[in-house]
Amino acid sequence: MNNKRVGILTSGGDCPGLNAIIRAVVKAAEIKKWDVYGIPYGTDGFIEIAKGERSTKELQLTKKSYQLPGNIQGLDVLQFFSGSILGSISKGHPEDTEVKADILKGYKMLGLDALIVVGGDGSLDIIYDLAQAGNWNIVAIPKTIDNDVPHTDFCIGFTTAVEIVTQALYDLTFTAASHDRIMIVQVMGRDAGHLALRGGIAGGADIILLPEFTPNLSRDVIDRCCHQLLQLNYSGRQFALVVIAEGVKNPNNPDDKHSGDYLMKQIREYSEILCHEKHQDFCTLKDVDMRVTVLGHLQRSHPPVAWDRLLATAFGIEAIELIEAENYDRLVVWQKGQVSSEPLIPVMSTIKERRLQKLCTSPVDKHDCMVKTARSLGIYLGDG
Ligand code: F6P
Repeated sequence: MNNKRVGILTSGGDCPGLNAIIRAVVKAAEIKKWDVYGIPYGTDGFIEIAKGERSTKELQLTKKSYQLPGNIQGLDVLQFFSGSILGSISKGHPEDTEVKADILKGYKMLGLDALIVVGGDGSLDIIYDLAQAGNWNIVAIPKTIDNDVPHTDFCIGFTTAVEIVTQALYDLTFTAASHDRIMIVQVMGRDAGHLALRGGIAGGADIILLPEFTPNLSRDVIDRCCHQLLQLNYSGRQFALVVIAEGVKNPNNPDDKHSGDYLMKQIREYSEILCHEKHQDFCTLKDVDMRVTVLGHLQRSHPPVAWDRLLATAFGIEAIELIEAENYDRLVVWQKGQVSSEPLIPVMSTIKERRLQKLCTSPVDKHDCMVKTARSLGIYLGDG
């Protein structure tokens, strides 16, 4: 068995399960007597190495790293913590040629046989280009609460975020019901609606607005939301739960980050118009109390749920096996209930092409079984 030097870095927005990947990689590598180096703060770590600000020794990850009291080794409990012990960065492509040269130099100085890149579509886009330039042997692991990396059914962190959205809706149900309120919950996901869709269904939402079906809050969408809310009221429900993905835009200001607030204002204004136009029923709706909750980064910081730990662990092990087989330039994926891997070239061409067109890299498909599930429950999804 050849001894190998493997690097690992986490890049882009953090999410639950990153540490579980690191743990699995270190454990599996130690069994093979390989050395693992944790690169701090994504590719910035290579710059620090190049500038002599960090030594190689300092980066080595072993079972004894992160020793806790009572002889618990940090590695034993690492999978339970969210965040990344390596830190992460969300930066664009290194435009500066000196910065790029330092990254490539730092990589070379570490003498790695392979690098495990844990990232979402943006980070993969950046690091793939660096890897091409530096001839790096990479294996990628998809992570993001947005679940928008193509060719994999699951990205690390997504399931935990779904759990947070679900729990938030459950928690809000009782205060909503006590005050006969409409609760609007704004969830993350960037330009993808996977998190809103799954969290919304599991949390009992009445309306779920996804960027795939509702690119912006047009008058038509507001009109249908008002009708859906009125319908609920006719059925005897005094409260409602509305989920809006952050990717659904304010049509007058696409940079507005407060789509939940905009939706509330629009429902209020439009039901008032309808009421004055003598659609009497809407007069009740115009006076209903509404509140907006923005879940924000809470969706990224919960300890990973069991499924994310399992997936992260299995993905980490798969990455080590690919490296052992010297099968590089692969993306570890979950497809058809199994861990496997895909060649990075087609994955990257999808990512690059769609990012260039400012499109979501892996949107909710209109044939997704959860779309049908939501519709069959009578949930309004924001389309015609
Ligand atoms: O991509 C993950 C994500 O959490 C998105 O859902 C969200 O739009 C974005 O990152 C937030 O980024 P930041 O942490 O930089 O505010």
